[in-house]
Amino acid sequence: MGYPLPDEVAFKGPFAPMRFEATVEECIVSQGEIPKELSGGFYRTGPTWKRPTKQGTNPLLSMDGMVQGLVLDNGRADFRNRWIRTPKYVLEEGRQHGVFEWLDSGFGDWRDFAYGDVTRDALTCGVPQGTNNINIFPFAGEVVALSEQGGPPIALDPITLDTKGIVPWSSKLSAGVHLPTAFGDADLAAHPKWDHETGTLYGWNYRDVAPYVTIHVINPDGRVESRDLDDAPYNTVAHDIWLTPEWIVMPFQPFTISQQQVRERQVGIWGWDETLPITLALIPRDDIQGKVRWIKTDLPPQYVMHTMSANVENGKLTLDAPVFNRPPFPFEQDLKVGEEVALFFSVAKSFLGRWTVDLATGATSSEQLSDRPSELPKVDERFYGKGYRFGFQVGGVVKRKGMSMNSLVVTDMHTMSEQVYQIRSGEPAAVLEATFAPRRPDSPEGDGYIIVPVSWWADKRGQYLIFDTDDITKGPVCTIDLPFALGWTPHGHWSDFR
Ligand SMILES: [Fe+2]
Repeated sequence: MGYPLPDEVAFKGPFAPMRFEATVEECIVSQGEIPKELSGGFYRTGPTWKRPTKQGTNPLLSMDGMVQGLVLDNGRADFRNRWIRTPKYVLEEGRQHGVFEWLDSGFGDWRDFAYGDVTRDALTCGVPQGTNNINIFPFAGEVVALSEQGGPPIALDPITLDTKGIVPWSSKLSAGVHLPTAFGDADLAAHPKWDHETGTLYGWNYRDVAPYVTIHVINPDGRVESRDLDDAPYNTVAHDIWLTPEWIVMPFQPFTISQQQVRERQVGIWGWDETLPITLALIPRDDIQGKVRWIKTDLPPQYVMHTMSANVENGKLTLDAPVFNRPPFPFEQDLKVGEEVALFFSVAKSFLGRWTVDLATGATSSEQLSDRPSELPKVDERFYGKGYRFGFQVGGVVKRKGMSMNSLVVTDMHTMSEQVYQIRSGEPAAVLEATFAPRRPDSPEGDGYIIVPVSWWADKRGQYLIFDTDDITKGPVCTIDLPFALGWTPHGHWSDFR
């Protein structure tokens, strides 16, 4: 049946859902040429509205994941987007209406996120609630889409984007926030890192009851090693980590999650408690059963949502990231019952920053490295866990309490020099997270191309801009056009076919 598009912030402007599947072969290149040496796919996933939920409202995390893939080869680009056929999607598609309901949904205001448990009934019993709408990355010859704590990882075909199914190693992962509803129903937090040479994946799960975090090291052959962080200081929304040659660095930040507070007080599921100290767990990455070093910091209340990368030099561990003044999410101290949530970057702003740990003394400090608002940090992922020099971000300008994103920023973290290219000025458009693709498989770190998806949503058209890292200030070396607005997607990665 047909439905009106809900009259809510999460459906407007850049968030208007892309409610169709498209195949665009030999995409139009309106400017320049696609570098012939690039061969690979740029995959992204995002929450996309299909139909109302059983509770009427459509919290972001309840929306089904849709994958967008741009495959480049020998100067040609092919675009596809497909719904991810999760168990939830398949069940609701069969019934032609929403059948799930969540603990933190149905309020009709900012408290609705669909992050908590599903209220199980005869229809949904045994069906994982994952929507796989937050991140997608290459692993073991496939691309794997993740929810944020919503359900099991799902593998997709890198060319057709057909859903292959829940990965077989899901049964070895731990539960996240939710109790598993079926064999193989587990979670993996949305930003695992990997070692380019070995293909080993460093992931984790988190939850609102102890053990608050479980580390998972996943080998390309499907073997999984796990470690509960039993002595974690408090529960945290563990969205991202840093990887160094020696450690997995997991930040415990006072951005917390509690299903209990939803049940008992009918508030939102998240909390922000500035009295809890930011604490770092240094977990030996080659021996995750080994001794964890805990560093209780005296860093000021700050929030890192996404990490850029880390270096270890002269006894100092430097952890780089866009650093927020507070998490860009709604809390009960900010909003009244009935208010709508303002999304993401409109409620907080971040600037490139650095936390430094003196490894001899454990002393920590924080510094701001730029006065330009920025987020969505990316690096040359061949160098995950090896130290780094070049960081890539989407930059912007301060806008009220938050920021408005408009540019690509490349930062040389040794010299702190920046290259900036402004992609939009006043026009309505969403500059989405970039990805880096190396010029050749053996190119030095940071030498290659940066691909930026842009949704010119008011004109209902999309673009991918490809920049050469030699000099991004000259503008894109090529512009790939799509005849529709790209649906909003938070994250994605490049998978090299060479
Ligand atoms: Fe994220």
